[in-house]
Amino acid sequence: MEKNRENLNNPNQDLTQDLNSILGLDTQLNTNNLIIRPMRKEDIEGVHMVEVDCFDDPWSKKSLMDELKNNLARYLVAELDSVIVGYVGVWFVVDEGHITNVAVHSNYRGQRIGDRLVEEMVKLCKSEGLVSMTLEVRSSNTVAQNLYRKYGFKMAGVRKEYYSDREDAIIMWNQLSEL
Ligand SMILES: CC(C)(COP(=O)(O)OP(=O)(O)OC[C@H]1O[C@@H](n2cnc3c(N)ncnc32)[C@H](O)[C@@H]1OP(=O)(O)O)[C@@H](O)C(=O)NCCC(=O)NCCS
Repeated sequence: MEKNRENLNNPNQDLTQDLNSILGLDTQLNTNNLIIRPMRKEDIEGVHMVEVDCFDDPWSKKSLMDELKNNLARYLVAELDSVIVGYVGVWFVVDEGHITNVAVHSNYRGQRIGDRLVEEMVKLCKSEGLVSMTLEVRSSNTVAQNLYRKYGFKMAGVRKEYYSDREDAIIMWNQLSEL
C-alpha cells in the first residue's frame, strides 16, 4: 500500500458543505457520544465511506482489511452514534510510528474529531514504547498541518514533488519523549 496517494478533498463534498452553509444546515453536532476505539472488521464499510468522501484515490476495502491483519499497523476509528465518522492509522517501523492517514468525513469536520483521533493515536504510540512519530502532508494542507502541530509534530523537511500532481510533501516529526 502506498502512503503517498492523493489526499485532495473531493470537490463535490466542498460543494455539499457550501450548500449546507447557505441553507443553514451546518449546525453544531452533539459529539458527547463520540467513541475512539480500535478498528474492527465490521468497521471496514464505514471507514471506506470516509475514504471515498475524503480522497480522490481511496484505499480499497481489501487494503483496509489487510491492515487489520498487519501486526505492525494500528488503526483507531471515531464512532458517533453508531456511525464511523473518521479514522487514523499508523505503521510501526522499529521504534517509530509512521502515520498512514487521518481522515474525518466532511459532514463531521470542525467538531474536534480529528483532534481526538490524533491525541489518542499519540497516546497509543507512547504507551507502546515508540520514541517518535512521523508523517508526510501536502504543503497546501494547512488544516492537517495545524492539527499535527497541536500534538507536537514539527516540520523537518520537504519531499519535492512527492505527490503525483507534483505537489511537495512536508515531512513532520514528533519526538514523543519531549511531550
Ligand atoms: C485534517 C482533518 C482530519 C481535521 O479533522 P477535523 O475533525 O475537522 O479537525 P478538528 O475539528 O479536530 O480540529 C483540530 C485542529 O485542526 C486544525 N483545523 C481544523 N479545521 C481547520 C480549519 N478550517 N482551518 C485551519 N485549521 C483547522 C486546527 O488546528 C484545529 O484545532 P483548533 O481548533 O484548536 O485550532 C480533516 O480536515 C480531514 O479529514 N481532511 C481531509 C483528509 C486529510 O487531509 N487528511 C490529512 C492527510 S495528511
